[in-house]
Formats: sequence, structure tokens, C-alpha cells
Amino acid sequence: MNVEKIREDFPILGEGIIYMDSAATSLTPEPVVASVLSYYRDYNANVERGVHRLSQVASHLYEEAHIKVADFINAKEEEIVFTKNTTEGINLVASGLGWERKDKIVTSIVEHHSNFMPWLRVKKRFGVALEIIKPNNGVLRLEDFEKVIDDRTKLVAITHVSNVLGSITPIKEMAKICEDNNALLLVDGAQSVPHLSVDVKELGCDFLAFAGHKMLGPTGTGVLFMRTPLLEKIEPLAIGGGTMDDVSLEDYKLKETYERFEAGTPNIADGIGLGVAVEYLEKIGMDDIRKHEGKLTKKLVLGLEEIENVEVYHPYIERIGVISFNIKRLNPHDVALMLDEVSNIMVRSGHHCCMPLMKELGVVGTVRASLYLYNTEEEIETLLGTVEEIARSSV
Ligand SMILES: Cc1ncc(COP(=O)(O)O)c(C=O)c1O
Repeated sequence: MNVEKIREDFPILGEGIIYMDSAATSLTPEPVVASVLSYYRDYNANVERGVHRLSQVASHLYEEAHIKVADFINAKEEEIVFTKNTTEGINLVASGLGWERKDKIVTSIVEHHSNFMPWLRVKKRFGVALEIIKPNNGVLRLEDFEKVIDDRTKLVAITHVSNVLGSITPIKEMAKICEDNNALLLVDGAQSVPHLSVDVKELGCDFLAFAGHKMLGPTGTGVLFMRTPLLEKIEPLAIGGGTMDDVSLEDYKLKETYERFEAGTPNIADGIGLGVAVEYLEKIGMDDIRKHEGKLTKKLVLGLEEIENVEVYHPYIERIGVISFNIKRLNPHDVALMLDEVSNIMVRSGHHCCMPLMKELGVVGTVRASLYLYNTEEEIETLLGTVEEIARSSV
């Protein structure tokens, strides 16, 4: 993998910026930017509505983007719904599944608010039981899930990768437990799909929500995978233009494809851009990206562990390149500001939309460095050197 060549596709990096906030949103490579511009410049038209040439081109490319994303996670085209982000996909399932008081939902304390608050709301509205599993030293253990998943469990909603700890959940094994108990499995793939080779058939999940904007795609793009027979069991969030096969004065018939969930004019240009982002990742190869990030992650974790007054939150776990830490006596926001001021390093700080997990860790927040294919060993060295300097001066 030629990182220097890849970096040429991200002009923002030429400004001397060290970008380590890809878990919030990733940078966007030139081919993706070009594809978005090309929509507006060359064939700007609505999709699935017109017979004229421009509409035909736009419709074809928008549909093709669905196919590219479906192939990327080994799903079928009709199983892929474009959303505006991960949060919308999860909420679509929460509001569309239909709940009864006797149901149970199982989730965990490491979840992003987007995969936590929707379930709290279902509990408040419908009186369903909500079981919340805690991790052990940063790891969600299968035996803890086995204890609470039973024939009452309608849904298990779990993150594939924690956006704070970087820890990887054993989804395949979890899917087996769900299957044995007839429970549905929703996976929050916001942090996994951009970094791991994800195959929905192999994982065995029923739903997978993720974000295009965290995997080199434009902002305003997300994806919800729903296993085929479930498509018709989920009530769409919105219906109207583009979602129906037939409408009479008394009734309507929704389409049997993903279009039933994409009401109104979709985010056409950015959806097409997402398809190009997926192509870009595939061309480089997810396995090579994983290897590159693994090397950088190891260097960063080991380096941080050696710095006095730095605490890393669960360094030695099965993980991706999302690393949370704190410098003793310093507020994480102050550390993030100093990293930017001193060394042009962009990291996230605060609670990372994971307040229950912060409370469990006993901190107000953390500093989080998150890596991607464009980061380099030199950048890791700069981060480590700057953290060391800050930690020394904080004593
Ligand atoms: C694990 C996880 N889930 C959900 C989300 C929400 O994603 P989005 O902003 O695409 O809705 C994030 C965003 O950081 C995340 O990291």
C-alpha cells in the first residue's frame, strides 16, 4: 500500500495537517469530490422520475451506487437503504419494528448514544425490558450476553467496534446466540465498516447501520442493511414520492425494494459519491488498510503506554486504530487544543457521545486519536512526542 501516493488524493493533508479524527468523519479523496461535482456539472437531474436523458444517467448511477455498497458488504442490492447517517438507520429500525410490552432489547454500555437513546425511547414508550451489558476490561463478553438473551428478546443492538475504546465485538458468535433464541441482531457498523472487511452473510446479522462519511464518502451519507425478509416487516420512517407501486383514494402499495424507505428526492450526488468511495477502498484493499492501521496502532499504543502520567483506556484488546487516553490532571479538551496548536494534530476530545461509558470509566471525557489509511508512522511519532511534552509540562 503506497501511503504517500494515497495522500496525494487528500489535498488537505498538504497543508501540514495531521488528521487523527477519522472516527468522527473521514477525509474525502479527490475522486469522490470529483464525482459529486460531476453530478452537478454534467447530469444534474432527479432520479427515478423522468424519462429524459439526464434523469436516466442520474438514476443509473444512483442505483449503481447501491449495488457497489451492497457488494462491498456482500449484501443484495434490495437490502441496502441509503440514509443520511448511521443514526437515521438505527432509528429507522427502532421506530419501524413494532414493539409490545413483553419484548426485551439487549444492548451495552459501550454504545454510542445513537445506538442507545433509540432503545431507551422504545423502553419509555412501550414498556419493553432493556438489558444493558457492561464490558470487562474493555471487552464485551459473550457469556454476559448469553445470560440475558432469551425467548423474550426481540432485538440485540450492539456495536461492532467501540468508538471510544476501539474494541471489536465478536459479532459472529453473538449472532449464533441470537439465532438460538430467535432474536434479531442489529449491528452498529459505524466504526467497523470503514476499517474491517465486513461480510453480512458471514457475520449473520439482521441489520447493519453505518456511515458513508466515515469511510471516505461525502457527509450526509449513511447505509442501513436489512436482511431481505425483514424489509417488509419494518414500517418506513417516511412515505410519499418514490416509495410506492400504486396509490388509490383508499390505499397505497409500497415498493418491494429499498425505494420504499427512501421517500422524496434522495441525496443523489452524495449517494453517487459514496459508491465512488467504496470503489476507492476496494481498489486499495481492506486487508491492506487493516494491516497498515494495525502497524500504526501498535506503535501508538506502545508509545502512549511508555509516557508517564498518561492513561490509555484498555490498550491491549482486539482493536482497531481508535485509541482513547488522558493526561493526568489535564482536561481532555485542553489537551486536544494543545495538540492542534503545537503540532497541527486534529483529535477528538470529550465524551464521544458515550456518556454512560464515560461514567463507567469514571472520567468526564478522553482524548481520542483515530487513524485511517492516510496516516503515517511519522505522524504517530509527532503525536507521541507532543503528548510527552504536554505530559511533562503538566507535572
Ligand atoms: C459507533 C458509532 N455509532 C454511531 C455513530 C453515529 O454516526 P452518524 O454520525 O453517522 O450518525 C457514531 C459516530 O461517531 C459511532 O462512532
